[in-house]
Amino acid sequence: MKTSSSARAARRRRYLLCPPRHFAVEYAINPWMDPARPVEPAAALQQWNGLRAVLLDLGHRVELLTPVRGLPDMVFTANGATVVDGRVLVARFRHHQRAAEADAHRRWFVAAGYRPVHTAGPVNEGEGDFLLAGPRILAATGFRTSRAAHREARRLLDRPVVTLTLVDPRFYHLDTALAVLDDDRIMYYPPAFAPASRRLLHVLYPRAILASEADAVAFGLNAVSDGRHVVLPAAARGLADRLHAEGYVPVPVRMPELLKGGGGPKCCVLELRPA
Ligand code: ARG
Repeated sequence: MKTSSSARAARRRRYLLCPPRHFAVEYAINPWMDPARPVEPAAALQQWNGLRAVLLDLGHRVELLTPVRGLPDMVFTANGATVVDGRVLVARFRHHQRAAEADAHRRWFVAAGYRPVHTAGPVNEGEGDFLLAGPRILAATGFRTSRAAHREARRLLDRPVVTLTLVDPRFYHLDTALAVLDDDRIMYYPPAFAPASRRLLHVLYPRAILASEADAVAFGLNAVSDGRHVVLPAAARGLADRLHAEGYVPVPVRMPELLKGGGGPKCCVLELRPA
């Protein structure tokens, strides 16, 4: 069946981003990070500015979190919190190097007037591992976020939570292995998930777009969708073709400097969902 792109409707979003002013690879907490490989700060800023411009051009609102010296991964705002129905669940990072980012997020949400603002008890890496998909939250464990954090999120965000287990260290956060396109469509890389999770995803999303390994390692699943436009790394050519064939509008961006930190466009974007 052929779907025309007019069938896909975009919804205006509000996003929280943080300029990569202090971005660097000073430690290695995922397999993409190599402190011996230098980051080009000007290029990182330029690529991030490009992402911000794309989101604004698509009509979305972008809020900014002030970068803090000494927190080189703060550009990856997706990990700072999960925001559903105006309720905020601030992260608790697995690694001490990122721990203080949670406080910066908490202060921003309180100052912006969000209520309630909870802080996770168990390890919880925000939207890196919790993706809202229509009525439910898809949540990952395996590398960062703990299972206990899934139970806490169900209680505090008041949505059903589906637990998925990640098994490939290259895809250490859910948003590196799976992207939500709209309320009932996702795309993902099946081998990143444990067998039971793959079966579950297949049952829940029989019409999902499945990514090739090449597109997955190009961080093609680290995509930001507004229901119609899908912002994804330009290197994920196969996925862009698939999205186009399914009636979405792929919007390619180049962010190779950020990939040195193990992140792509989605990692740099935290969605602020209103009440
Ligand atoms: N260097 C960061 C880390 O390993 C990258 C985070 C990427 N964020 C994401 N949402 N996948 O924690």
